[in-house]
Amino acid sequence: MSDRKRILTGDRPTGKMHLGHYVGSLQNRVRLQDEYDCYFLVADLHMLTTRPQKEHIDALRVNIREMVLDYLAVGIDPERSTIYLQSAVHAVYEINLFFEMLVTLPRLTRLPSIKDMARAAGIDEESVPFGLIGYPVLQAADILMPRSALVPVGQDNKAHVEITREIARRFNAYYGEVFPVPEAMIGDVPTLIGTDGQAKMSKSLDNCIFLSDDPRVVEKTVRGMFTDPNRTRADIPGRVEGNPVFIYHDAFNPNTDEVDDLKERYLKGAVGDVEVKTKLAAALNAFLDPIRQRRADYDSRPGYVEQVIYEGTLRTQEIANDTVSEMKKAMGLTGVWNRISRKARDRMRKAEAAG
Ligand code: TRP
Repeated sequence: MSDRKRILTGDRPTGKMHLGHYVGSLQNRVRLQDEYDCYFLVADLHMLTTRPQKEHIDALRVNIREMVLDYLAVGIDPERSTIYLQSAVHAVYEINLFFEMLVTLPRLTRLPSIKDMARAAGIDEESVPFGLIGYPVLQAADILMPRSALVPVGQDNKAHVEITREIARRFNAYYGEVFPVPEAMIGDVPTLIGTDGQAKMSKSLDNCIFLSDDPRVVEKTVRGMFTDPNRTRADIPGRVEGNPVFIYHDAFNPNTDEVDDLKERYLKGAVGDVEVKTKLAAALNAFLDPIRQRRADYDSRPGYVEQVIYEGTLRTQEIANDTVSEMKKAMGLTGVWNRISRKARDRMRKAEAAG
């Protein structure tokens, strides 16, 4: 075990990951693997907050595999980092319960993120489950379980890290210093705009480019991308700012001279959308090529993904158990049970001796 500071972050396993995940969080994870002891969770319990039905649980087998392949494909290295399955770390359920006492209901119900998730899942206000309200508390349990110091997430998760900080402070104030107060780390592009120009790239909005999309699909999606709607001809000056095509160029095209030239001509009405998009598709495919390559390679090793998750989960279980023990000790709960057990055993021993 190392004394490096820890990172914890992860995702709900709803399938393949997209460019928004990459610039929001995955990129930071890959960068920080050497500096930190990293834990990446497959948040299947969080998936249940909006998708508790059996059909979604049955889909986990495929979805977890897709997601972990994406992790490995972008360069998360299982030799250095730990990937684990949330639902198999039972101590987290306990941590979650203790944390439920340290946050108020209004604090949770006011969060826009809960409403957003409900809406995305087609759940109306009256049908929001208790567990979805508790989503950020469970997330706090994940984050604090390995006492992580840093949480690389997209903008959409920032408020949950804030709640985590409040819970950590409150726990420490009630019971003594057990937890660090972790910091969120937001990626280079906190919220990536969708290919359709909607505020956010999101599977439920069907406006994604997936890390595993093949080159043809990328080309086709880029051809159909939303740009400046007022620019009906190539000689009309266009808007660069807020234009998804240029936002993607900035995020994924390393050739800044090319991007600057395209922007300059776009502003003047001296370039066609086709050229801008063709160059974007080429840049995206150049970026995705090595990712697709590594993905195919990992995909072809039978049982490899399962072994990565298995070993990571066993390691995490130990850490989680340690944290629960520390928490109970700090809370005085260990003492309660120890006293009861001791008294009971004493009495039973005496009864036995008396015959
Ligand atoms: N909320 C994350 C998502 O949007 C998933 C998640 C669960 C998470 N627990 C976490 C992220 C802990 C960071 C840290 O999918």
